[in-house]
Amino acid sequence: MRIAVYAGSFDPLTNGHLDVVNRAAAVFDRLVFAVLVNPRKSEPIFATDVRLAVIREAVDESCPPEIAKRIDVQSFDGLTVEFCRRADAGFIVRGLRAISDFESELQMAHLNRKLEPSIDTVFLMTAIEHSYLSSSLVKEIALFGGDVSEMVPPAVARRLAERGPRL
Ligand code: PNS
Repeated sequence: MRIAVYAGSFDPLTNGHLDVVNRAAAVFDRLVFAVLVNPRKSEPIFATDVRLAVIREAVDESCPPEIAKRIDVQSFDGLTVEFCRRADAGFIVRGLRAISDFESELQMAHLNRKLEPSIDTVFLMTAIEHSYLSSSLVKEIALFGGDVSEMVPPAVARRLAERGPRL
């Protein structure tokens, strides 16, 4: 069975992430959507348990059933390669939006391979219509009360509406 891990902060999940997940789940038998409990990133817009719940809702609502049934949503801390070992995954999936992503992604792929040579990173080019999206900018727009409803899945938009802006 080909198992892949799609790891990230997903704070918040965007339509770009969901596009990558949909396409990756069509390639692998099982895809673990792995939410990093990231102590380096301060002030998350959503706590880890909310991020997990939102991702589960978004997968159920926005992915076709044959794709959704291959996706598992979990949280992890520590190294991504260690999580991959525990999940029995041989692949890490990453989305590439533009050339500017390439350098840091290349570095991460090489370092992960150094840490665990049996785990390979597979890149998918983010769909052009989502290539300008980043969680950090979406988060900033939302925190200042801007409309991000076309940038995030409905499950995220609902939570943001409940939360309200930080003004
Ligand atoms: O969505 P992000 O924040 O760009 O995801 C980055 C992530 C979570 C994939 C990366 O920071 C990561 O793998 N962190 C876990 C710790 C780790 O394994 N660090 C070494 C990476 S070479």
